[in-house]
Amino acid sequence: MAEIGTDIFKASKWLETAVIGMPTETVYGLAGNALDSLRVADIFRIKQRPYFDPLIVHVHAIEALTPLITEFPEPLKQLAAHFWPGPLTLLLPRSKALPDLVCAGLDRAAFRIPAHPMALELLRACKFPLAAPSANPFGYISPTSAKHVSAQLGDAIPYILDGGTCRVGLESTIVGMEGSSLVVYRLGGLDLTEIEDCVGKCEVRSNESSNPRAPGMLQSHYAPAKKLIVGNLDELLANNSNKPAILIVFGKYRQNYPKSLQLNLSTGANLSEAASNLFAFLRLADEAPQELILAEFVPAEGLGLAINDRLRRASYTH
Ligand code: TXA
Ligand code: MG
Repeated sequence: MAEIGTDIFKASKWLETAVIGMPTETVYGLAGNALDSLRVADIFRIKQRPYFDPLIVHVHAIEALTPLITEFPEPLKQLAAHFWPGPLTLLLPRSKALPDLVCAGLDRAAFRIPAHPMALELLRACKFPLAAPSANPFGYISPTSAKHVSAQLGDAIPYILDGGTCRVGLESTIVGMEGSSLVVYRLGGLDLTEIEDCVGKCEVRSNESSNPRAPGMLQSHYAPAKKLIVGNLDELLANNSNKPAILIVFGKYRQNYPKSLQLNLSTGANLSEAASNLFAFLRLADEAPQELILAEFVPAEGLGLAINDRLRRASYTH
């Protein structure tokens, strides 16, 4: 069983030979040496992730990217200067220094500088960049605490660096370029409007589902084990009145339903707070005895777009 601790030196030692849990401001990562294909293969195996689904490479400073990329297009450089460290991942043309496995053989790799003091310290302590997908089994809800990581992957890794509860709670927003156009491949913890204020209009492609270029694009993802339906809560309650359900609400509690069965993403209707609670609440609802989870969409603006995207995917059934 993984030890949970706050010892950065110990964590960096483990990373010389193993894969560990690492905190970031978005979600916890399953981290390994990005330059060592054996460690990268461990990540895929532990996560049961398909090899076609590439990983994000984490570094502590923009300079650390130099040996890993062949080009840094100007608009993406601007985004990096504005938002790194932060919940933003950039797709950049990659050098041969990275093993093919990290980026599934693609010409671009995904890079991010996380805004979590312990993650940055850990990256500085290591002599190599860290490949880290979210530390959950493929397709399940992303972890936002060390306990979440331990619950699912604790048997497969020796150490989880505990950085507390993730402040943002949604995975990073992924941006890249196609020709001279900016494309958002995954809505996430950095608000799209902030990105567009910085570099202008972006095309949002994160809803594609066939032959996904990012697995966050898969229709079914971030999913609890039990059935989740998202929509108008009053209608959903009326249509499912025979089944005990746990509700995920935003802002107001439903007056006609037991409060103890309602998880409120943010009583003050604050989207950042809702984002930071979303995955933990999906887990709580999944662990509750009720057989069904009913949730409502949040306002489709700012971070609400990413929250609704996760709710939609979490509720998708084949
Ligand atoms: O916030 C985050 O991004 C977290 C923390 C740990 O940094 N990481 C994370 O990783 O969410 P993961 O593996 O769960 O999601 C990475 C996403 C995937 O959807 C993957 O397809 C996309 O990044 N991605 C990675 N490399 C790519 C590439 N070369 N081209 C296109 N998409 C890529
Ligand atoms: Mg993930």
